Amino acid sequence: MDPIARFKEGQRVAWAGFAALERITGTAAPRLVSFAGVRPGAKLLDVGCGTGVVALTAARAGARATGLDLTPELVARARENAAIAGVDVDWREGDAEALPFDDASFDVVVSQFGHMFAPRPEVVTREMLRVLRPGGTIAFATWPPELCVGRMFALVAAHSPPPPPGVPPSTSWGDPAVVRERLGGGVREVTFDRAMMRFPMLSPQHFRIFIEENVGPFTRVVKTLEGEASKLASFRRELEQIAAVYFEDNVVRQDFLLTRAVKA
Ligand SMILES: C[S@@+](CC[C@H](N)C(=O)[O-])C[C@H]1O[C@@H](n2cnc3c(N)ncnc32)[C@H](O)[C@@H]1O
Repeated sequence: MDPIARFKEGQRVAWAGFAALERITGTAAPRLVSFAGVRPGAKLLDVGCGTGVVALTAARAGARATGLDLTPELVARARENAAIAGVDVDWREGDAEALPFDDASFDVVVSQFGHMFAPRPEVVTREMLRVLRPGGTIAFATWPPELCVGRMFALVAAHSPPPPPGVPPSTSWGDPAVVRERLGGGVREVTFDRAMMRFPMLSPQHFRIFIEENVGPFTRVVKTLEGEASKLASFRRELEQIAAVYFEDNVVRQDFLLTRAVKA
């Protein structure tokens, strides 16, 4: 298997248990939907949709939504979520770097903490812009490297094998200068904003345990360090220390970057 395919296989396995996070990421979804200016009847694609929190929110606002994700367990949960909510969404299992849609198929293409995990920014950007119609809106939420979740991912990277050559950290998508460069000349009206996701937890220690149990990249590090007690203890301590910086009123504050642009 080539290194990029192996990387994606690792992602697919790692995210399989993410469903428990939907009640947290679901609270951020309405902000992205409004930031993207989704209107009733708009044809919308949610890339890296996970359990469907953004696509469902958009569908409830009247969009004709499609959600695509690499991880079959999450797409299955997205289907259940749509059935429970009684909304119609077209769910697809697929790769953000090879979107199974014609050129200019959508009015709006969004991604909430999703496309940032595709390994090749230039490929995923090209794909998301390809399926967007001229004049359509691309909008996404990403984690800045210097804030809570970005620092947590840097900690994971420090304890993980290096990614394939040329694959940048996912949190490079949280830097407006990098995002502007990646979007390039094919878009206009690039706009940034910031928003906050509130993660209710009783303590930084509770937060660390919840993350270890439910967010694949962190679970994977804990598994790898199982035989190395002092390294594992230091990983856990550092994770709790990061969470403590952003912990207030029994909430871990997670600020993120919002980007919006119009396809030229
Ligand atoms: C942090 S989760 C976010 C899920 C969802 N958007 C949310 O806000 O709850 C990251 C998602 O990206 C998906 N993902 C990672 N790499 C992908 C790729 N190459 N193509 C499609 N989805 C991908 C994962 O399967 C996972 O569902």
